Amino acid sequence: ALPISAVVMSFNDISDGLEAEQMRSDFVTNVSHELRSPITALSGFIETLKGAAKDDPQAQARFLDIMEAEAARMNRLIQDLMSLSKVETMERVRPTHKVELEGLIQGIVNTLEPQAMANTKTIRIANQTKNPTVLGDADQLIQVFQNLIENAIKYSRPGTEITILIAPHSGQSGIAEIVTSVADKGEGIAAVHLPRLTERFYRVDSGRSRQMGGTGLGLAIVKHILNRHRGRLAVTSEIGVGSNFSVFLPSA
Ligand SMILES: Nc1ncnc2c1ncn2[C@@H]1O[C@H](COP(=O)(O)OP(=O)(O)OP(=O)(O)O)[C@@H](O)[C@H]1O
Ligand SMILES: [Mg+2]
Repeated sequence: ALPISAVVMSFNDISDGLEAEQMRSDFVTNVSHELRSPITALSGFIETLKGAAKDDPQAQARFLDIMEAEAARMNRLIQDLMSLSKVETMERVRPTHKVELEGLIQGIVNTLEPQAMANTKTIRIANQTKNPTVLGDADQLIQVFQNLIENAIKYSRPGTEITILIAPHSGQSGIAEIVTSVADKGEGIAAVHLPRLTERFYRVDSGRSRQMGGTGLGLAIVKHILNRHRGRLAVTSEIGVGSNFSVFLPSA
């Protein structure tokens, strides 16, 4: 069997100087590239609708559907970019509200259940803590777990179960933490990719992720939110078996 690969990411890499400049420039290039592909597709279909498909109602309907999907993709990309920028500006402001995690996660699961069922997947929550509470920004923590659970739904095999486990954990120098892990029975992720998963626009299989409507910004947003919460993300994965994304947050 292939070995289980694992990586733990704690994020304190707010970099400055030349490296930051290079990252900004790469980011602009990536954004431009990602925005260009739906625009190119839309322009192409408009051209065809005005010309070759002018008298073909069936083709017109089909093209309009594709155009609708491309516009939705662009919209999602812009929303994610705005979300990322908002999360970044809030990064140095510690969140102060008490957030109860079990209720928060149950709420997310309720909203994602139809999406899971449509893909013949079930989601199970197991809680080994009593009132797991952290100091946090509830909206942002929802974004974290929503992305991890959505990823688990997208990248797991039909008919399998996604397990969410909430458990107490003792962190560095004994600090009390709550670990919430989202485990799927999916295709798994090769070790080389693990350290790069939280990079903006990084996708293991970009064709596949795009096809699923992904922008590749989800885990980058997760990273910044966890940074703000003094949390960390640990990923373990085994090819052909599945992946486990664990979020560690200091207890309130
Ligand atoms: N549970 C998982 N199993 C297998 N691969 C995963 C899993 N979660 C993430 N990945 C890989 O990591 C990549 C980055 O994930 P991320 O959430 O940042 O982007 P996305 O899901 O493609 O798009 P978005 O979250 O913006 O809709 C994915 O494209 C996928 O290749
Ligand atoms: Mg995602």
